[in-house]
Amino acid sequence: MAFFKEIHEDIQAVVKQDPAARNGFEVLMCYPGIWALIWHRPAHWLHNHKIKMLARVISQLSRWFTGIEIHPGAKIGRRCVIDHGMAIIIGETSEIGDDVTIYQGVTLGGTGKDTGKRHPTIGNRVVISTGAKVLGPFKVGDDVKIGAGSVVLKEVPDGCTVVGIPGTIVRRNGRPATDLDQVDLPDPVAVELECLRRRIVELEKVLINKFGEESIIQCEKDCQYANIAQEIEEGTVDQIYDEVHLSEERKEQEDENI
Ligand SMILES: CC(C)(COP(=O)(O)OP(=O)(O)OC[C@H]1O[C@@H](n2cnc3c(N)ncnc32)[C@H](O)[C@@H]1OP(=O)(O)O)[C@@H](O)C(=O)NCCC(=O)NCCS
Repeated sequence: MAFFKEIHEDIQAVVKQDPAARNGFEVLMCYPGIWALIWHRPAHWLHNHKIKMLARVISQLSRWFTGIEIHPGAKIGRRCVIDHGMAIIIGETSEIGDDVTIYQGVTLGGTGKDTGKRHPTIGNRVVISTGAKVLGPFKVGDDVKIGAGSVVLKEVPDGCTVVGIPGTIVRRNGRPATDLDQVDLPDPVAVELECLRRRIVELEKVLINKFGEESIIQCEKDCQYANIAQEIEEGTVDQIYDEVHLSEERKEQEDENI
């Protein structure tokens, strides 16, 4: 019973999605994607019950009639729409979620480098456009769209659009993936200077408390932009306000106090 319920759901999904489909009967008679799913379900059952040879034979017969090759080991969820069919290959360890749409020329394959789980796991409500290749044992998240002709070689998070070769994420939840503001960029130099300015203010407070206003006035004289620029030009700049300078001032201050 579950078998017929699932096939009915598959047919209704096509009717809902394809404007060219006028009713369920037409879909049942004219859509190779539905035939492939009908053949796949008993083949998958046989595969799971270790009757693998018969399962393969059914799968190959289905391929002969539909041009869609689904390995009996592949797990396919509910309401899968295989549109047009032809040259679709779904590998043995592929797993496909619910409400997935697959167009003609799609391959869910392996790269040839993996053993065991070698094919992708596709989430729910994924669209795999015509000619796309998804190769390897990684996960493609829910609500992902894979562009026509793309070659996807690594995991795709939920809600992304992937296009190109190799597949690149161009949209995340409907927004461009490279959403970088090219005008108002952060200025790390300005931030660093502000940090230094604040530290200097705090240090000056300590100096005033310890050595009085004079030490700061001297510091301001020594550290003026024009003076420093001139020192740099003359090549006489060394440590502008080095430890020696400070210790000399401290010594003078102490002498005065005595
Ligand atoms: C990927 C797709 C599903 C659209 O997804 P989307 O989230 O609406 O993405 P957009 O259309 O906004 O495109 C996003 C960007 O990817 C680019 N893009 C879309 N599809 C692309 C593709 N197949 N190859 C390369 N780039 C593609 C767009 O030009 C756009 O670039 P931009 O941001 O520089 O303008 C669609 O483009 C697609 O490939 N559809 C094919 C469906 C199909 O197989 N139909 C067959 C019926 S028989």
